[in-house]
Amino acid sequence: MTHLSRAWVLTAHPTGIPTVENWRLEDQTLPGPADGEILARSVYLSVDPYMRGRISAKANYAGGVAIGGIMHGGAVAEVLESNHPDWRPGDHVETMNFGWRDKAVLKGDGLTRVDPALAPLHAYLSYLGMPGRTAWLALQDIGQVKPGETVLISAASGAVGQVAGQIVKAKGGRAVAVASSEEKLAWCKQLGYDAGVNYRTAEDLGTAIGEACPDGIDVFFDNTAGPIHDAVMKRLNLGARVIICGTISLASKFDEPDMGERFLRQILVARARIQGFLIFDHVARYGEANSALAAMSEAGDLQFKTDVEERLEAMPSAFISLLTGDNFGKKVVRIGPDSES
Ligand SMILES: NC(=O)c1ccc[n+]([C@@H]2O[C@H](COP(=O)([O-])OP(=O)(O)OC[C@H]3O[C@@H](n4cnc5c(N)ncnc54)[C@H](OP(=O)(O)O)[C@@H]3O)[C@@H](O)[C@H]2O)c1
Repeated sequence: MTHLSRAWVLTAHPTGIPTVENWRLEDQTLPGPADGEILARSVYLSVDPYMRGRISAKANYAGGVAIGGIMHGGAVAEVLESNHPDWRPGDHVETMNFGWRDKAVLKGDGLTRVDPALAPLHAYLSYLGMPGRTAWLALQDIGQVKPGETVLISAASGAVGQVAGQIVKAKGGRAVAVASSEEKLAWCKQLGYDAGVNYRTAEDLGTAIGEACPDGIDVFFDNTAGPIHDAVMKRLNLGARVIICGTISLASKFDEPDMGERFLRQILVARARIQGFLIFDHVARYGEANSALAAMSEAGDLQFKTDVEERLEAMPSAFISLLTGDNFGKKVVRIGPDSES
C-alpha cells in the first residue's frame, strides 16, 4: 500500500542568506515499508544551522541536497507501520535523517528510541539530542573546563549555547554569554551565566568582552566565527582552548572566504589550542552524552527554552530565522500531535 507525503524540496542553491523561494512544498507518494523498514510520521522537525551548509553549491563536510531533492533534517517521529523487529506502531524515534516532510519510510536500524514519559518529545532534538550532545562532548574533549576558569560562549541563548553554559557552571567554571539582545542575555543569566555581552549594541566589542572577562578567557566555545571570534581571540589566556563549533555569522557569505584578522601571534604567545568539533564524528559516544544530559535533566540542573512553530509550511522561514537571530531558543516545528495511535 502506498502513502501520501508532503515534502520540501530544494529549488535553488542560495547565495548568502536563503529565501523561502529556495524550497518548494510538493506531494509525493511513498511505498509501504519493505523488510527492515518503518513508516513514520513527524511530530517535530528540527531546524539547525548546519542545514545552510547542506544547501550550498560547494561541497561541505557532508553530502549536500541536490536541486529537486528532499531537504535534509532531523525529527522526532511516531511509528505508523513497522517491518522491523525493534519497532511497533505508536513507538517514538529520533533520527537525523527524516527530511523536511510529514511522513517517511526509514530503515529501522540506527534510529534512537525516545521515551515520551521522560521529557517532552522536542527535548530529543535539543538538550537531550544533537545540540545537547554537541555541547557536552565538545566541552568534555576540547574545553576540559577546570573550576574557576572563564569560558566564553557565543550564540549563548541558542540550542547549543544554553546547554554549554549550564555544563560550564556544573564544572565550576565562570560562564560568559555573547548574544544579540538584552532579553536573550537575561535568559542566559537565569540559566546561571555569570556575565553577558550584547554584540549588537556594544560600542566596542573587544572592550565589552574584556570587561566581562577581567581575568581573560580560558575556553572559547565559538558558535559564530566573524567579529565575535576576532574580539575574543585577542583575550586568550595561557593554555586557552578554542572550540570551533559553528560559523553561523558567515551564513551570508557562505561561499566566500572570510577575510578576518589573523591571530597566529596570539595563539603562539598563549600556547592556545584551536580545534574544530563535529558531532557526526562521535556517533559511538552518543550514549555517553545522552546519559550525562539525562542525569543533569533528571537532577533539575538543565533549564531550556524551545522556540516552537507550527505546521510543515513554516519550515523555510523557521530555518531562515536562525540565520538572522530571530529565534529565541532551540527552533523546532511541530507537525502533528505527539501520538495518533
Ligand atoms: N560542530 C557541530 O557538530 C555543531 C553541532 C550543532 C550546532 N553547531 C553550530 O553551533 C552554532 C549554534 O547552533 P544552534 O543549533 O545552537 O543554533 P542557535 O544558537 O539556536 O541559533 C542560531 C543563533 O546564532 C546566532 N547568530 C545568527 N547570526 C549571527 C551572526 N551573524 N553573528 C552572531 N551570531 C549569530 C543567533 O543568536 P543571537 O541572536 O544571539 O545572535 C541565533 O539565534 C551554529 O553555528 C551551528 O552550526 C555545530
